[in-house]
Amino acid sequence: MLNIQITKTTTPKAKPADESQLGFGKLFSDHMFVMNYTKGQGWHDARIVPYQPFQMDPACVVLHYAQEVFEGMKAYRSAEGTIQLFRPDCNAQRLQDSSDRLCIPPIPTEDFLQAVKALVEVEKDWVPHEEGTSLYIRPFVFASDVGLGVHASHEYVFAIICAPSGAYYAEGINPVKIYVEDDYIRAAPGLTGYTKCGGNYAASIKAGELAEEQGFAQVLWLDGVEKKYVEEVGSMNIMFKIAGKIYTAPCTGTVLPGVTRRSCIELLKEWGYEVEETRVAIEDIMKAGHDGTLEEVFGTGTAAVVSPVKELDWKGDKVFIGGGEIGPVTQRLYDTMTGMQWGRIPDTKGWIVPVCKG
Ligand code: COI
Repeated sequence: MLNIQITKTTTPKAKPADESQLGFGKLFSDHMFVMNYTKGQGWHDARIVPYQPFQMDPACVVLHYAQEVFEGMKAYRSAEGTIQLFRPDCNAQRLQDSSDRLCIPPIPTEDFLQAVKALVEVEKDWVPHEEGTSLYIRPFVFASDVGLGVHASHEYVFAIICAPSGAYYAEGINPVKIYVEDDYIRAAPGLTGYTKCGGNYAASIKAGELAEEQGFAQVLWLDGVEKKYVEEVGSMNIMFKIAGKIYTAPCTGTVLPGVTRRSCIELLKEWGYEVEETRVAIEDIMKAGHDGTLEEVFGTGTAAVVSPVKELDWKGDKVFIGGGEIGPVTQRLYDTMTGMQWGRIPDTKGWIVPVCKG
């Protein structure tokens, strides 16, 4: 159990007056959680302090070699006024898995949960009220040794910051256009594709920018070896409903094991859909798009929730999905996930973890 020292700010910021204009990850709350790791001593000095910049040596390892991992979670304000989390134990586990790959010492699950809950409780007034909004929580760990040798750091910082946020995409729940990336790759077997490390996202920015310039919301990544099989989208996993069956890439090392992904798969199976976690060739998806059997395409992610896709472009070929409208399965998943998260429908799965009264 962590002994968390709490120091409250004496200069709280004004809360946003118009929660419909929050956007995603632009504004941050008053406090942050911080804890340090020193080799031989372990994790120590857990504290909640006023939100502030880190002081960093220019030779800090993370600035040069990107030894860093992070998570994405949300705190929701329920209809009954409870502030609650969604499957935070899954984030704790994934942070440990990412940390292991990046040679970062793990944060025990109980400590991670205690830290997140303590910060959310301090920041409960920052959880927005408006429909579709939440307090986005960003836990992250970075190497803080000073030096330019390429090896695992002996010192680390674990921090958590919070951002009251609305929809991730400017389109909100409206269907988005996705560019199938045929040149750059995101992951390959043996690399870090399954982790949430900053480097994965850094390497994805170029393709994302080029796609955005052409009016696409994000890119769909193909496998890094043959550029043949669909894997995931910039900030979400992706699923395809073809002739009644749902397909999504398997989490075998190159795909992020999304918490929303696994929750949607559990719900879909419960509703009687066949879900295949299998490699699907982009060629077959485009074919299904042209012969009318590609019924729905949607992304899943903490930030993105459940996001419908209306168009896929691959090598100049285009397919349009569902006449640009959100499909019934996508809508049902969105309603069920957000219904549970915001406490509008009962949590039949035991996924909701209440933190405090709001
Ligand atoms: C999330 O969905 O929480 C993510 O971390 C995706 C992101 C990089 C915005």
